[in-house]
Amino acid sequence: MATMASTATAAASLRLAFPLLSAPASSSSYSNTLRFPLRRRSSCRPLAVAAFKKLSEASPVPIPQEPTQPLLVDEDALPPKAGVYGVYDAAGELQFVGISRNVRASVEGHRRKVPANLCASVKVAVSDEEAPDRSALNNAWKSWMEEHIAATGKAPPGNVAGNHTWVGAPQRPPDLRLTPGRHVQLTVPLEQLIDRLVKENRVVAFIKGSRSAPQCGFSQRVVGILEAHAADFVTVDVLDEEHNHGLRETLKAYSSWPTFPQVFVGGELVGGCDIISSMAERGELAALLIQK
Ligand SMILES: *[C@@H]1O[C@H](CO)[C@@H](O)[C@H](O)[C@H]1NC(C)=O
Repeated sequence: MATMASTATAAASLRLAFPLLSAPASSSSYSNTLRFPLRRRSSCRPLAVAAFKKLSEASPVPIPQEPTQPLLVDEDALPPKAGVYGVYDAAGELQFVGISRNVRASVEGHRRKVPANLCASVKVAVSDEEAPDRSALNNAWKSWMEEHIAATGKAPPGNVAGNHTWVGAPQRPPDLRLTPGRHVQLTVPLEQLIDRLVKENRVVAFIKGSRSAPQCGFSQRVVGILEAHAADFVTVDVLDEEHNHGLRETLKAYSSWPTFPQVFVGGELVGGCDIISSMAERGELAALLIQK
């Protein structure tokens, strides 16, 4: 295909949101991101999409605009089956390509969540099989994305990572706690618990507030930077008096650093928000996170 090279270039410059198979968009554990392009296969081995229609072969199905009403679309046109689907806005622009174990339920979820003009019609391609293989569904999604990128030079806006209109914000893991609670008498000094924690977890951020709701701008920035680096990191809330009582004072002494947040990598203090920010800007943080 003559457009293959430009497809790869356009795709390479984007970070795409990869919709994981799951319940409708209202579910919060819905999204993940994936770097495109996927490894190119030799041209004689096409992606395994035989069971699914191509994007250009599927016919658009209009979606009723009133989200409070039941979804009045013929089940044959929008079946409750596993497949790939594309959502079009009122101007006929493809906004999002998703995969689902139940495309009807997913489209219903979008219809209730996004502005009506963004979800004016859908194209779907479902599998003939009752429970198609996950990789067959993933390949169908990839093929639809590639077809669209080849035709327009860009990904649908809803599939660009960071756009939470279509898929929810990434689910954040809970913060680590140093103790089960204040009612429990500690048998080891807090300093030892800190030491163990920063040595057992490669990247640790001691922050003010929780990971999902940081209580200060510096902590928020540090969480954002680590997430942007796709770092596998844990957080500890230094304001959690119930589970981390005494942590602030003990940590300041442990690290000889007077403020929070504090980021540790490989058991060693790297720094606070300013240091992490400037390392990120200079590209040093990525190197550090990979290296250690
Ligand atoms: C997110 O997606 C919506 C709908 O597809 C689009 O209108 C909007 O421009 C996108 N936002 C960004 C920041 O890409």
